[in-house]
Amino acid sequence: DVQKNLRPKRLREYIGQESLKEKMEIFIEAAKRRGSCIDHVLLYGPPGLGKTTLAGVIANEMGVNLKITSGPILDKAGDLAAILTSLEENDILFIDEIHRLNTSVEEILYPAMEDGELDIIIGKGPSARSIRIELPPFTLIGATTRAGLLSSPLRDRFGVVHRMDYYKEDELEDIVKRGGHILGVEVEESGAREIALRSRGTPRIANRLLKRVRDYSEIKGNGIISGEIAIRALNILGVDSSGLDDLDRDILTSIIENYGGGPVGVETLSLMLGEDRRTIEEVYEPYLVKIGYIKRTSRGRMVTEKAYEHFKCKE
Ligand code: ADE
Repeated sequence: DVQKNLRPKRLREYIGQESLKEKMEIFIEAAKRRGSCIDHVLLYGPPGLGKTTLAGVIANEMGVNLKITSGPILDKAGDLAAILTSLEENDILFIDEIHRLNTSVEEILYPAMEDGELDIIIGKGPSARSIRIELPPFTLIGATTRAGLLSSPLRDRFGVVHRMDYYKEDELEDIVKRGGHILGVEVEESGAREIALRSRGTPRIANRLLKRVRDYSEIKGNGIISGEIAIRALNILGVDSSGLDDLDRDILTSIIENYGGGPVGVETLSLMLGEDRRTIEEVYEPYLVKIGYIKRTSRGRMVTEKAYEHFKCKE
């Protein structure tokens, strides 16, 4: 699919996250020389920053298979056991939203990560017994939006823990140019800049906006992505000059209009907007906090002066 094509396959194609790349390059090389696999890696940070992409890159660099699953999907211990026993030597298992694993699955994971052993109970009652299976060496790459939600025994079993941060504007600009190149669309400097500025520091959003601006340009322009075309397209998409979308604006205006700017609890916001609490906390809030539009206080969320100014100058 199209999304996949835009994902970098090798480390040298992966733009940004320099400190992480530098570390991983060394670990990959060292593991390859030893003919072993790299230690388990925990990646945390806001969604869309390329955690799954990076897992794919590492698998490609190591020349091993990548299996992808997620916390909410693995709801029985047997599901995880089935995946673990299907791994080949040095394969990578990627578990997205690893903070959402249930306890029985987590308990299977501990000995698997630490000793390469799978302990499973078969049967019920007096005839139940436990069997132990040796697993091939493998690397677990866990991803989570919030490392604080991980149990500490699980967190402690990762040899590498890295916080991924929002991308810088020039990195996003390069990602947009790279995407344009792959999609075969001409992107002018000003066009790439405009898309980058409105992508909330997130490559997934940059690539999505690039595709929508391309659609717009093909129908309303000459197919070239100029700064002017990008601005017109992004305005139609409801993405404003700070990269805020409709829900971002709803969050801010409802705190301003109904609570005098706050403080207000996330639960109240969730009810008021009819939006999942987790989505607000893990997708929307982190960026609003990062750009200084919302402050988290012990009594709840507060809209800042900077956010008021953003709405003022738009009118
Ligand atoms: N596409 C998504 N994330 C990317 C990245 N970090 N570098 C290049 N292309 C990307």
